Amino acid sequence: MTDALWYFGRGTGVTVLVLFSLVVVLGIVTRSGQPLPGLPRVAVAALHRTVSLAALAFLTLHVLTLLLDPYAQLRLEDVVLPFRAAYRPAWQGLGTVALDLVVLLVASSLLRQRIGVRAWRWLHWAAYLCWPAAVAHAIGTGTDRHSGWLLTVVVAWRWLMIGALKSVNSCRSLDSASSLPSSSHEPPTSDASSGTTSTTKCNDRK
Ligand code: HEM
Repeated sequence: MTDALWYFGRGTGVTVLVLFSLVVVLGIVTRSGQPLPGLPRVAVAALHRTVSLAALAFLTLHVLTLLLDPYAQLRLEDVVLPFRAAYRPAWQGLGTVALDLVVLLVASSLLRQRIGVRAWRWLHWAAYLCWPAAVAHAIGTGTDRHSGWLLTVVVAWRWLMIGALKSVNSCRSLDSASSLPSSSHEPPTSDASSGTTSTTKCNDRK
């Protein structure tokens, strides 16, 4: 039974990590206002929300399982207060920091109408701290920390995030370049196949 808890705790941990990485990538794409191939923008935002909820469910299972696992030696307070656990307190504590940030993100999203979009957006930046904290926790405390596959998962998602951020930034530069007064008075380049301008292809939120 103890082995089952341990395997389940590890499995749910890796699942949370993959789902959180997907949430961050989808969040970057949602913020950019771009669609994904085959998915309209509304669907990207809906997917971002749905995957966030799934990640939350798996995070709950991860923590509950490891609380019951005697080897993990977790106490209830370790779920809320970081860096006090008996086993690898620093790495374990980063998992708790990630969890605290997740609670902040969920609470601010539920209270979005009350706190206003501006405050919500500021608090939502916490998502960018949550991912490195969760990764450091996984690599520092997990049984599979020496396994090549866990590192491969982390590196692959890191590249995906960098790719998403780069594509958003290049779209922003296109947007701002197109809003500059043009000395040559040339119209934006048009994409013959789609009939859209390069600017609207990147971001057509206006
Ligand atoms: C966003 C938050 C979190 C993520 C993404 C996450 C993810 C992970 C991952 C990927 C592992 C490694 C599993 C393996 O080696 O196969 C792990 C291990 C572990 N996590 Fe988390 N975790 C999070 C939060 C927490 C919290 C809040 C706690 C407890 C309060 C916790 C307790 C543990 C423990 C004790 C282990 C070691 C399990 C082992 O023996 O391998 N985690 N976690």
